Amino acid sequence: MNPDIDFATLKIPRHVAIIVDGNGRWAKERGLTRMQGHDAGFDNLKALAKHMLKRGVQVASFYVFSTENFKRSVEEVGHLMDLFVMLYKHNLRDFMENNIKVVFSGRDEPLPAKVMQVRDELAEQTKNNTGGIVNFCLNYGGRAEIVDAVKKLAASGADIENLTEEQFGKYLYQDLPDVDFMIRTSGELRLSNFLLWQNSYAEFYFPETKFPDFHEDDFDRALVEYTRRDRRFGAIKNA
Ligand code: IPE
Ligand code: IPE
Ligand code: MG
Repeated sequence: MNPDIDFATLKIPRHVAIIVDGNGRWAKERGLTRMQGHDAGFDNLKALAKHMLKRGVQVASFYVFSTENFKRSVEEVGHLMDLFVMLYKHNLRDFMENNIKVVFSGRDEPLPAKVMQVRDELAEQTKNNTGGIVNFCLNYGGRAEIVDAVKKLAASGADIENLTEEQFGKYLYQDLPDVDFMIRTSGELRLSNFLLWQNSYAEFYFPETKFPDFHEDDFDRALVEYTRRDRRFGAIKNA
């Protein structure tokens, strides 16, 4: 625990969304392969997720694979898919012990069947857990999500004429609160199609640290920055 941080005064965001980025560059700096970078990144993810919920965050979303990431080499995509299978299969007990509900956001196609199987099992087994939500954005695209929501909406026969933003939100992949705090590691300053609807009023934070090195202490420092932000949602302060 960082002695410079006054934990009593920290504001805790309800929903934190992280773009897991920089695994490849982290590995390159060390003369390792991109695959080793992903291994290190996903090792870190587990500990970080637990820490975030321990700090009082209710929903932790992780962008782990975009719809666009299928453009990468067969070797890299294959390695990532194997990693997801391992992560979801071997950590069921850990998620249960920590009372964490795991949900997923993203499209099925063209995920390998083995990934969809462990994904669905983990979601099913943890669905009644109440100690916080981890939302894995896997084969996820923000525009795809909005298009998929519109399709569901059209098929539902809902009253489009009187549709509200709140009702539209229910057709997204998961019914989660808006993102309060969006963190992208590795110094890249873009959204890359992440939670376009949910991030509309989020505070953004772009640490230079690459994801495998973004640990509990770094998250606590991010909370200090979040606490300093003045969220206005379009209103005038002290009006
Ligand atoms: C993010 O790290 C992990 C995934 C996309 C799954 P990158 O692989 O994008 O790492 P960099 O950006 O090349 O360093
Ligand atoms: C975004 O990172 C997707 C994930 C982290 C899963 P990328 O590394 O794929 O994004 P770009 O290509 O740099 O925008
Ligand atoms: Mg990247």
